[in-house]
Amino acid sequence: MSDRLYVFDTTLRDGEQVPGCQLNTIEKIEVAKALEELGVDVIEAGFPISSPGDFNSVIEISKAVTWPTICALTRAVEKDIEVAADALRFAKHKRIHTGIGTSDYHIKHKFNSTREEIIERAVAAVKYARRFVDDVEFYAEDAGRSDNEYLARVVEAVIKAGATVVNIPDTTGYCLPEEYGRKIKYLMENVNGVHNAILSTHCHNDLGMATANTIAGVMNGARQVEVTINGIGERAGNTSLEEVAMILKSHKDIGIDTNINTKKIYGISRMVSSLMNMPVQPNKAIVGRNAFAHSSGIHQDGVLKNRESYEIIDPVDVGVDENSIVLTARSGRAALKHRLEVLGVTLDKEKLDQAYEDFLKLADKKKDINDDDVLMLVGKERKENGRIKLEYLQVSSGVGIKPVASVCLTIAGEPFEAASSGNGPVDAAINAVKQIIRRQTTVKEFLIQAITKGSDDVGKVHMQVEYEGSVYYGFGANTDIIAASVEAYIDAINKFVI
Ligand code: KIV
Ligand code: ZN
Repeated sequence: MSDRLYVFDTTLRDGEQVPGCQLNTIEKIEVAKALEELGVDVIEAGFPISSPGDFNSVIEISKAVTWPTICALTRAVEKDIEVAADALRFAKHKRIHTGIGTSDYHIKHKFNSTREEIIERAVAAVKYARRFVDDVEFYAEDAGRSDNEYLARVVEAVIKAGATVVNIPDTTGYCLPEEYGRKIKYLMENVNGVHNAILSTHCHNDLGMATANTIAGVMNGARQVEVTINGIGERAGNTSLEEVAMILKSHKDIGIDTNINTKKIYGISRMVSSLMNMPVQPNKAIVGRNAFAHSSGIHQDGVLKNRESYEIIDPVDVGVDENSIVLTARSGRAALKHRLEVLGVTLDKEKLDQAYEDFLKLADKKKDINDDDVLMLVGKERKENGRIKLEYLQVSSGVGIKPVASVCLTIAGEPFEAASSGNGPVDAAINAVKQIIRRQTTVKEFLIQAITKGSDDVGKVHMQVEYEGSVYYGFGANTDIIAASVEAYIDAINKFVI
């Protein structure tokens, strides 16, 4: 019989910490519901003491989902634990995730402390959290670089104090797979009472080894994996859920099963990518757009004769249904509704009507409407709640003339117009917007991407705008790349012009 592996998703906590990926509470609920449908066991919904937004999201996610355990992060600090317990009050199944650094780097430089004192603080935090909830997970931050003998003492002490799960994070993504596997094996063999808790992996991808390390941990006794959709997360990201799920599904020889409904993977991957404005690299395993595209003649011939010649995964198993990806101007409302549902988005009638109207306008400009376009249309509505709105934009540019732009914005409903020239059409348009908003801003990063291919494609623009020492992220999507750039700029400034 296969062993059961628990899947702990931290897209909404570790994943959401990525600059520019922040979601509002409604968007987080949407992702949490999709994670529940996907079959994850635990949803880490936030770090409640870190901000009122995180606190509120944990409350609302707790109300919105039923089956998964809702987990809230804390430091090993009493106030953090109290706030987390309060945020979890509506959760049907709840867990507090508390912890402290256990590597000498953390003990000496972060806490200016000693190994003994850290054990005391860890034990006190677990005992305090157990006063509020029965399910307490302890994380030994930077366990990847912690001394194994000392780590075993910490793990033993926190299990004795009542931890139900012990997380062994490779916080810096430093470990080699063999080394991380050995660490888990060492703990399994040297911690008294280890079977009273579950050991969990939490691997970062700084050296591109997060998935390999996670699998090594599982093969050596870990029975929970901490993962994110599309592997998003700070720096190079976390272990990606879809990779772990498909490795275990493909390698039955490992003898470990998860509760993941793999057919839901593609939909949630697109949803998270779209909501977080975080494109999936085309060659990303399992969910990249080239993951199942065979371009060489030899491969195509082989796949046509027998899929298994070159494909180890049937695309249908991860929810990729080639026949239903493209919609056109002739597609009806039902087709759009179905496509959105495959992508994990359910709209009420009014919102569907609006999305369908926008869909028809886009289909007028663009022949084939793909999944990214569909998600962009639904996301557009969310972006339109800002105080500053773009009413019109006119740009003239070309070879041998200086580009000029005129814009009309409404600010809280009142119209303002301006015109300006610039180094190029985007510069001219942004200069015109700047004349209206009268704020000293600097565009720090400006990334333009076509969503898929073709000159009629929707262009996506990611922008970082600096204002008074802080950086704000903006996103725009439009078939007109200059309009998309101005939308991204306005999206960023809407975050500080309140
Ligand atoms: O990477 C890490 O160590 C973490 C902990 C806070 C669990 O994210
Ligand atoms: Zn982490």
